[in-house]
Amino acid sequence: MSLFDYTIEAVSGAARAGSYETAHGTFRTPMFMPVGTHATVKGVTPTQLRDLNSQVVLANTYHLYMRPGADLVAEAGGIQRFMAYDGPMLTDSGGFQLFSLGHMMKVDDDGVTFQALDYDGSTHRWTPEENMRIQQLIGADIAMQLDQCVGYPATREQVRASTKLSWEWARRCCDAHTRPDQALFAIVQGGMFLDLRLESAQRLIQIDRDSRAAGGRGFQGFGIGGYSVGEPHDVMFETLGQVTAALPPNQPRYLMGVGNPTTLVRAVRAGVDMFDCVLPTRTGRMGTAFSSQGRMNLRNAKYTRDFGPLDPACDCVVCREHTRAYLRHLVKQREMLGGILLSIHNLHFLTSLMGRAREAVLAGCYEEFYEEWMASPGARDY
Ligand code: GUN
Ligand code: ZN
Repeated sequence: MSLFDYTIEAVSGAARAGSYETAHGTFRTPMFMPVGTHATVKGVTPTQLRDLNSQVVLANTYHLYMRPGADLVAEAGGIQRFMAYDGPMLTDSGGFQLFSLGHMMKVDDDGVTFQALDYDGSTHRWTPEENMRIQQLIGADIAMQLDQCVGYPATREQVRASTKLSWEWARRCCDAHTRPDQALFAIVQGGMFLDLRLESAQRLIQIDRDSRAAGGRGFQGFGIGGYSVGEPHDVMFETLGQVTAALPPNQPRYLMGVGNPTTLVRAVRAGVDMFDCVLPTRTGRMGTAFSSQGRMNLRNAKYTRDFGPLDPACDCVVCREHTRAYLRHLVKQREMLGGILLSIHNLHFLTSLMGRAREAVLAGCYEEFYEEWMASPGARDY
């Protein structure tokens, strides 16, 4: 196997099980990736991440660029050395953060100028080339193209303009990306408009072909962005399956920023291989646990004297060793261990859910797995 080969091991309906080679090891899909925005998955050590079977850890280009700076990360030997996580890593380009943090920003065809209001208010300019330079310095195994993502609702004209800009930037990212031990993923945009989504996919595939025909490397995977931006829950599924069907079967598909358990189970059925989201760690820090019975808010008084495990169906270290009463106490007391333990459990919940999804695909029975999940109490309230 050579670097960035994606081997499809089995399919079940549109669901796939695969393995992908990086310089820091092989990851297996379907897969959930914990988010470590600032080069740390908040409250979770690299050793714990490995024990959780989390395969790829995400970091964010915008935040690392602002602090401590991409040069410093490169000087440390790259992001893996810097944070002492020796598994595969991925950096998001940061375009989404500029958009979602509501930065003062001005987008033109050539790039984006923004003011880092959540840091020191300084002004910066990113072109696709500059963004690639920064991601190559940070040195994750997978870099994402610089893109522009619009919120919901948005007019067709707004979505069309950002989608076009995104594929133009995809070409420039592809041309500027030279680091041989790093993959580059394109990102499909198009909002909730199926025809724009399909056009986006076609344009990116053409860029990939043109690059390879000219002796370049093209893309080594496809992100699917621009969902989960405020639209009603089911709207994404009106187009998602058609978007994945339009993408090359031999490349991984990464649905960006989606992390609730039921959405993952449904998206795998629609042909998605990779996911990331802050949800498990962010809700964990707020005192909420995923469980086989649906979400649990540990602040609830009913857990005061509940000396049972957090989720009897979970085999994570937290569920093996701690009681609901203790976790509730930690959360109520705002002890940092509360957020840490719930983050570990929530991450395990999603990594093991995707592990079971993978087993179901390998066994050729994803539909049964899907129906069983949808009928289970764990599928409630998502
Ligand atoms: N994370 C969630 N959605 C997106 C998106 O559309 N683009 C990027 N770059 N990151 C995302
Ligand atoms: Zn658990």
